Amino acid sequence: MNTILMTTLTISGITGILALLLSVANRTIANYGEMKLTINNEKEYTVEGGDSLLSTLIEEEIFIPSACGGKGSCGYCKVKVTEGGGDILPTELGYVTPEEQKAGIRLSCQLKVKTELKIVIPEELFNVKQFDYTVSSMEDVTDKIRHLKLQLPENASIDFKPGQYVQILTPVYKESDEEVYRAYSIASSPVNRNAIELLIGYVPEGICTTYIHKYLKKNDTLTIVGPFGDFYYRDTDREMVMVGIGTGMAPLLSILRYMRDHGIQRRGTFYFGARTRKDLFLTEEIDAISRELKDIEVVYTLSRPTPECNWEGPVGRVNDLLDQRLGDCSELEAYLCGSPLMIDAVMDVFQTKGFPMEHVHYDKFE
Ligand SMILES: Cc1cc2nc3c(=O)[nH]c(=O)nc-3n(C[C@H](O)[C@H](O)[C@H](O)COP(=O)(O)OP(=O)(O)OC[C@H]3O[C@@H](n4cnc5c(N)ncnc54)[C@H](O)[C@@H]3O)c2cc1C
Ligand code: FES
Repeated sequence: MNTILMTTLTISGITGILALLLSVANRTIANYGEMKLTINNEKEYTVEGGDSLLSTLIEEEIFIPSACGGKGSCGYCKVKVTEGGGDILPTELGYVTPEEQKAGIRLSCQLKVKTELKIVIPEELFNVKQFDYTVSSMEDVTDKIRHLKLQLPENASIDFKPGQYVQILTPVYKESDEEVYRAYSIASSPVNRNAIELLIGYVPEGICTTYIHKYLKKNDTLTIVGPFGDFYYRDTDREMVMVGIGTGMAPLLSILRYMRDHGIQRRGTFYFGARTRKDLFLTEEIDAISRELKDIEVVYTLSRPTPECNWEGPVGRVNDLLDQRLGDCSELEAYLCGSPLMIDAVMDVFQTKGFPMEHVHYDKFE
């Protein structure tokens, strides 16, 4: 027993020392100096080598989506590398398909700038900016979800499409010693470009959500980068199926508010799933929107109603409800938002119903 313990301690000790030496070496011996970074074959930057490509680009105020804040666990920070960068790393393999690898796609948070690099990024990322918002209001809409209203200075504005998201730069605070970016969908309509609203769920021990729920105060400044994402309202005539649970309400609410603000009359149904009645929120506004946009039906379903809920509506998960209610899907368009589990379950239903997948848009909150 003692021998096993000693061996484990020795191995852990050696590994720890090696990791420390590597990190010191990286900072001191491995001084890569200045490198040339070329973007989209036209913009050239002289950057300091050694850091991740993602951080290097942030230094140049070019913001690549990074929903996990550079941990290599979201796969959002892909860029196309056309020259330099070396071989793909084991930490990238789970997120970059073999076809993408052949096309030079890399995770910019994993790839270190150690050689001259040529990369290609979507032009619209040059429009992503960093903003300092003031928290103008904070309200708990359920015991886990906080509704934030954020205000820009008078002459500043953000341009976004309904459904897109921003990233909050969480500062260092008492319970976290690192700055991290986290993705949050905008809940407000782009009609007001001077302010945004967010719906932020509490994740126990989560870095950003702990900050938002326990430390952030009214009138504080919150640094936001955005907008990002290809989940946004498509201007088509198709009948819409909108499906959300929890904070997945946010981008769908932005879409509904946008439709209301522009008087867009399209047929559609907004399905929202919650556990109990107290997990439903902002229903007054949503019901008012559906009265105004007469062809938008709203259906709430509770997966675990208690007797106190006094609930007479549908019971069960949204995917089961969709399974019961959806008939011919060929002319439909879907917007799904919330946990990966919910989205995968809905996608399974869509598969069996022959839903045209090119008309399914989703954001997984992972
Ligand atoms: C495109 C996009 C849009 C998003 N929009 C929203 C939004 O509008 N509102 C919102 O609240 N969130 C949204 N998210 C999720 C958000 O980005 C964070 O992942 C989440 O808030 C947790 O961040 P954190 O820093 O508090 O937790 P972290 O410090 O990242 O995580 C701490 C631990 O909790 C686990 N964890 C992370 N998220 C969850 C979860 N949801 N449930 C259970 N465990 C979890 C992690 O695996 C980790 O072990 C979105 C995500 C994406 C990708
Ligand atoms: S930022 Fe999430 S994988 Fe790179």
